[in-house]
Amino acid sequence: MMDGTFFEACPQSVRFGDTSFQVCYLPVTDSTNLRLRAWRDGTPPEGMTGDLCYGTCLAAGMQTAGRGRLGRSFLSPESGLYFSLYLKAGDPEKTLEVTPAAACAVCAALERSGIEGVGIKWVNDLYYRGKKVCGILCERVGDGVICGIGINLTEPPGGFPPEAGPAGALDREDLGKDTLLLRVLEQMAFALKEENRDRTLEMYRSRLVLQGRRVRCAVGDREIRGRVLGIGEDFSLVLAVEDGRTCRLSTGEVTRVFREEETEERTLLRTAFFDFDGTLRPGDSIVSYLAYARRKGALSLRGLCRAGADAVLAKLGRIPLSEAKTRALSFERALSARDREALILGFVREELLPGMYPAGRREWARLGEEGYQRVLVSASTEEYMRPLARALGADALLCTPLDPEGKAGPNCRGREKAERMRQWERTLPRGIGVDWEGSLAFGDSRGDEAMLCLTGHPAAVNPSRALRRTAERRGWPCLEWNKTTRGNGKEHETE
Ligand code: BTN
Repeated sequence: MMDGTFFEACPQSVRFGDTSFQVCYLPVTDSTNLRLRAWRDGTPPEGMTGDLCYGTCLAAGMQTAGRGRLGRSFLSPESGLYFSLYLKAGDPEKTLEVTPAAACAVCAALERSGIEGVGIKWVNDLYYRGKKVCGILCERVGDGVICGIGINLTEPPGGFPPEAGPAGALDREDLGKDTLLLRVLEQMAFALKEENRDRTLEMYRSRLVLQGRRVRCAVGDREIRGRVLGIGEDFSLVLAVEDGRTCRLSTGEVTRVFREEETEERTLLRTAFFDFDGTLRPGDSIVSYLAYARRKGALSLRGLCRAGADAVLAKLGRIPLSEAKTRALSFERALSARDREALILGFVREELLPGMYPAGRREWARLGEEGYQRVLVSASTEEYMRPLARALGADALLCTPLDPEGKAGPNCRGREKAERMRQWERTLPRGIGVDWEGSLAFGDSRGDEAMLCLTGHPAAVNPSRALRRTAERRGWPCLEWNKTTRGNGKEHETE
């Protein structure tokens, strides 16, 4: 394998679905990232012609000046696989998503090659058996991004020098560079597709080696310490920092991972819990959803009337609420997965988001900026609440679950809300909990009382008569969030 013909079996053009890559190969170069950049500026590598196109993959047998992040070098002897891709990036935020997509693509390609247990150290390093085996360097150039990937297949003769840091190798002599390159490209084609973003995010989260660990990070010349809470919707690293707030890093580097102390020192996070229907937006969202589905022709008039009749039966206690919800949503089963997704996303974008109370949205945004975790706690079902939570950047969603057959689980209302909040605390990484006393909750009805009672700072928003009585008795503030409320609505506080 080490005779300079590593890429013989690699075709010059490969296609995976509607994504194609043009593969070029240099036995030796300084840096594949640098060569692509020069190519884009009009100087193609020797032996290559034409303008640089999106989808070009330049691979090298070895690099003499391999580049790492933050101006570091990347040792690139013959024993590794080095290549760079020129990809269309669109807006700058999307550039930040190329690195995690590449990390997931390499993990998946290695798994397909029988190498299990590769973990991701946010944001761009892959670790195997405690050593760094792969680095990724993405650089924005105009509307594109050059994504360089280096994988240590075997140890170089004489081992890795100390300046290579915690470098290690996969120790797979038998794994051809051409085979691995093709597998990574195939996985890259998958991971870069917008429709696979959620799966990529899930994969990235599940491979994170830092979950729950105490870390030190460098962001420019700032140093931040905290415990890793997880990966945000935008692939940011979410840290629980010492003062009980969360901090999200979209750039930067983890410079140290601390050893776990013997003592159970916990970081308690301030959290804001929000009910949705009636609190952040008027009315019952399932009613709006059914009306929307009717308008879009996805629900028959008969189906709509039946759902109305079931709602009345549920109110009278003749059938469980979860059964009424299951039946109301049964029309979705007749839709294709694509139509169903389009319907739900349309509902979230056209109805739920624009229909939210401006004062509620402001409070949501303010608390996010102040480093509170934000959790939606709703009796609505997860199908449309999940994309809504994602669009709002919620840290968690606690709502009425739906099983794969569309059957609604326990209604997330009343005591169930409080129960789910406590359960959710138990799912946080070890060493992280909720600062219940320092947390906030917002609800509008009696069904929110148990949730409000759990936190030290409950607020009744547009309260029902019953909740207003409780609020007055307990001294909770009452807020009016309506379509026109300015500020945070506190001008309507009760005494
Ligand atoms: C890092 O670990 O900081 C990133 C390393 C990225 C290395 C790859 S190898 C292919 C491409 N060419 C380079 O010069 N760097 C990237």
